[in-house]
Amino acid sequence: MLVSQPQQTLVLVKPDGVARNLVGEILARIEAKGYRIVALELRTADAELLEQHYAEHVGKPFYAPLAEFMASGPLVAAVIEGHRVIEGIRTLIGATDPTLALPGSVRGDLASATDAPVHRNLVHASDSPEAAAREIALWFA
Ligand code: TYD
Ligand code: MG
Repeated sequence: MLVSQPQQTLVLVKPDGVARNLVGEILARIEAKGYRIVALELRTADAELLEQHYAEHVGKPFYAPLAEFMASGPLVAAVIEGHRVIEGIRTLIGATDPTLALPGSVRGDLASATDAPVHRNLVHASDSPEAAAREIALWFA
């Protein structure tokens, strides 16, 4: 019998999510969808870890403020497992820009509708199997 392998992805509840007491709400949405939390840690990221995590973005105009924000307080790192979880979590969190994220998504429902910069969008999730493998190894070495 063919049994599909469950996938894993890396999710970060960013410092704005922790500061706004939204960790439970965000993890509850992930669990309610049927995904499993298989690793979970509260930690504060440093510049070196963030350069590796966001390697594709280093040097872009938004990188410095993004990295400063991501190191500004504790975040929650999690490994989430389930069927097609990489795509599924990207759908669940919504578009990068909170103004464009659809209602029903984490960013669409919860990312604050102020003039806050786009990086205050509550959550990160891996965007491909290659990124997920790399990011899980980085955060949960
Ligand atoms: P990106 O990987 O494109 O988005 P996502 O988090 O949805 O995978 O960008 C990483 C983060 O960088 C994003 O969450 C917010 C920030 N960012 C900006 O501040 N400005 C931008 O124009 C982009 C594209 C991203
Ligand atoms: Mg990304």
